Amino acid sequence: MRNCVIAAFAVATAVFAAPAPDVTSRALPSVIAASTARTRLAGLTVATPSNSPAYDRDLFKTWDTISGTCDTRETVLKRDGTGVTVSSACTPTAGSWTSAYDGLVTTNASSFDIDHLVPLKEAWISGARSWTNASREAFANDLTRPQLLAVSAHENRSKGDSDVTEYLPPLASFQCTYVRAWVQVKDFYGLTIDSAEKTKLTSILSGC
Ligand SMILES: *[C@@H]1O[C@H](CO)[C@@H](O)[C@H](O)[C@H]1NC(C)=O
Ligand SMILES: *[C@@H]1O[C@H](CO)[C@@H](O)[C@H](O)[C@H]1NC(C)=O
Ligand SMILES: *[C@@H]1O[C@H](CO)[C@@H](O)[C@H](O)[C@H]1NC(C)=O
Repeated sequence: MRNCVIAAFAVATAVFAAPAPDVTSRALPSVIAASTARTRLAGLTVATPSNSPAYDRDLFKTWDTISGTCDTRETVLKRDGTGVTVSSACTPTAGSWTSAYDGLVTTNASSFDIDHLVPLKEAWISGARSWTNASREAFANDLTRPQLLAVSAHENRSKGDSDVTEYLPPLASFQCTYVRAWVQVKDFYGLTIDSAEKTKLTSILSGC
């Protein structure tokens, strides 16, 4: 218990002692404007999610080889970090990463995960269950939409398969970007939303 308290304090200190993370200048794929997101949200199909057939992570192949020895994960790490150098196997050997979700800064790429902004299971229950394997692989390795982000492993793991009613980035300043990107990805892939999700997205976007 005592260790937990100390660890939690250390994390909190790291977050609040760090300079405001400059997440907007990172080379993320462009995110649609709030006004565009509101329009696209109105066009999304509202449907009850279905997990039949049951979700299976193996139906979304990761990671693809993108260039040379670099796979999708390594490509996102190079894109989202600053001063990133890599070995001949494309493993980061130096660099600094800021987690857009919680502001955590690290020089250890292994402590960051590549998050699927719209989680794979969330995609499955909102439409990807009827796609081909190739389409699911493209979705899971999408470097064009703002669907993959290098974030602290802690945040990726506490997010799990949650949608926006269950998880939003704790860094309040990133929440608008997060929901704009969420609508952009769902719209691009023709994924459905459920009614609680629509209420939440509408509420957040109205304040953006
Ligand atoms: C899709 O991928 C899964 C997992 O690799 C495989 O079992 C299945 O046969 C594939 N389906 C098709 C239609 O290729
Ligand atoms: C980097 O992070 C990983 C995963 O948390 C950990 O196992 C490893 O010890 C860390 N490396 C250093 C140099 O701190
Ligand atoms: C990120 O979280 C998701 C959902 O819990 C999990 O499937 C995925 O494996 C995690 N990513 C990594 C790199 O651990």
